[in-house]
Amino acid sequence: MSIYQIFRPLIFKIDLESAHNLAINFLKFCPRTATIFSAKRDYENLRSKLWDLDFTSPIGMAAGFDKNAEVATTLEKFGFGFVECGTVTPKAQTGNDRPRIFRLEEDLALINRLGFNNLGAEVFEKNLPKISVPLGINIGKNKDTEEALHDYLPLLEKFYQKASYITVNISSPNTKNLRDLQNENQLDLFLSEIAKKKNELKNTQKKNTPILLKVAPDLSVAEQEKIAETVIKNKIDGMVISNTTIDRDLNLKSKNAAELGGLSGAPLLKKSNEVLKNFYKFTEGKIPLIGVGGISSAQDVYEKIKCGASLVQIYSAFIYQGFGLVEEIKKELSKKIVAEGLKNISELVGAAH
Ligand SMILES: Cc1cc2nc3c(=O)[nH]c(=O)nc-3n(C[C@H](O)[C@H](O)[C@H](O)COP(=O)(O)O)c2cc1C
Repeated sequence: MSIYQIFRPLIFKIDLESAHNLAINFLKFCPRTATIFSAKRDYENLRSKLWDLDFTSPIGMAAGFDKNAEVATTLEKFGFGFVECGTVTPKAQTGNDRPRIFRLEEDLALINRLGFNNLGAEVFEKNLPKISVPLGINIGKNKDTEEALHDYLPLLEKFYQKASYITVNISSPNTKNLRDLQNENQLDLFLSEIAKKKNELKNTQKKNTPILLKVAPDLSVAEQEKIAETVIKNKIDGMVISNTTIDRDLNLKSKNAAELGGLSGAPLLKKSNEVLKNFYKFTEGKIPLIGVGGISSAQDVYEKIKCGASLVQIYSAFIYQGFGLVEEIKKELSKKIVAEGLKNISELVGAAH
């Protein structure tokens, strides 16, 4: 039993947002104590190179945990292969009223309707750490911004030089109309402007920062096909699949299941895997995909990679199992690769197709 599991009953007595804030402060102000039991280890067969970036392992921290880029240096010590900070918006905003994050204990899930609460791009930029693993920056729009590009384009410019990659998040269910950007009639224009800006920055800044699009799991297969086509057409470098779901038809048992917001954790696994598989097929494996949604074990990571993910991210399972899970998964995954007779994790990508 890990230290986290010993303290978990106490932590679960506190509401989730207060517990999260405590955790961020602990990781920020007591990084040595926080990581004292972490046994970070690298495995040769988990290394990969994507977009010219070196990943020591495919396990990353998903967006939303470190919204203000305060604790990435500490997270790195827990053994993550990469860390995605944000979502950051141009201006600071408080988000929706509390309570706005809920545990669904019986389902090993969470529901959040935070609404991009964050301290804004200025503070985020000042906080930005230097870490030795790739650092993703996830960008979004302010609640009161009518024209989304007015927020995304300046953020792209602001963080282009500092980010290892940038995720354009148009899939949070908690910002009104945000997901509409995924619609056929808006996405092409939106992505063509993003791509134009990227090309400009690539030339002026002499750096090729990959731009990824993060999508929702609540898309029809026809919508997924259209998005994939638009992503390829506009030369977007990769995708993050997926964000949380608004679907509640997932045999949920917890009393909090009726709360509004995005559902994450174990019940999202199957749905996000299906969407991931479709995107791998529709993009013909031409661009790297980051698989996220419902991972809680090495077996889940293994399945996601077979569905087409080159990298994966986790959030909700840390609430239930703690950060020791990262090293546990790496160890198990490395063993699985050997048992399968493979040399490297990259040989497994898309193997289910
Ligand atoms: C409390 C919470 C806050 C989140 N905030 C963000 C966010 O700001 N931006 C984003 O792109 N995704 C956000 N997410 C979604 C996660 O990055 C991830 O896509 C989702 O939780 C599915 O992964 P999981 O099942 O491992 O949690 C958030 C998730 C949770 C649980």
